[in-house]
Amino acid sequence: MKTTGGSDEAKRRAGESAAALVDSGMTVGLGTGSTAAHAIRRLGERVEDGLTVQGVPTSFDARQRAREAGIPLRALDDVDRIDLAIDGADQVAAFELVKGGGAAHAREKLVDTMADRFVVVVDPSKQADVLSHPVPVEVLPVGHSAVARSVREAGGDPTLRRAERKDGPVVTDNGNLVLDCDFGAVDDPAALARTLSETPGAVEHGLFVGSADEVHVGTDSGVTVLERE
Ligand code: A5P
Repeated sequence: MKTTGGSDEAKRRAGESAAALVDSGMTVGLGTGSTAAHAIRRLGERVEDGLTVQGVPTSFDARQRAREAGIPLRALDDVDRIDLAIDGADQVAAFELVKGGGAAHAREKLVDTMADRFVVVVDPSKQADVLSHPVPVEVLPVGHSAVARSVREAGGDPTLRRAERKDGPVVTDNGNLVLDCDFGAVDDPAALARTLSETPGAVEHGLFVGSADEVHVGTDSGVTVLERE
């Protein structure tokens, strides 16, 4: 797993706080990353204690973790609705997110936006006034140069994400590549999201605009819950 800022204790508190929102009978979106992993682990403990849920994983990694935790799983294709999704973020500003640090944002966006309630779990290092984290864009391998050109034309600086402990690029769960696109401070995330969505060859981008309902910010001593009005 990639390394991110923030203490594991803060991530644990955020993840467990979100896992406490799950009621029996719910279909739950299971996010990807080190913070969502705590929610999955805690949910598994609750399942062991008798909670009845079904989880919809957002990635290969989330699925593995959920299986290890003993959470019954359904594929996204097999569910009509998701009650609650719990997922991490690389940056949060005013309920708008950059995601995709783990290259899972395409499936995450499907699951998280389908949920009746989308709860984001972060540590304080992810909070910002304005989004400025490079935006991951999943691209068709054959189109990565074309998408990179479009990103430059839109004012961004794209970098093909390289794998660690493998020569060559990161390959997503969907068999695609990732461009990390630095746009500096993003003053209008909705406009940039539209531009990236309209770029041929771009499968999905990591800007999540208007989908987060709550943000649980874990710290070393507690959790602050921010709710969208
Ligand atoms: C996965 O692609 C990402 O969207 C993660 O949810 C995000 O990078 C947060 O991960 P951490 O909780 O590990 O920082």
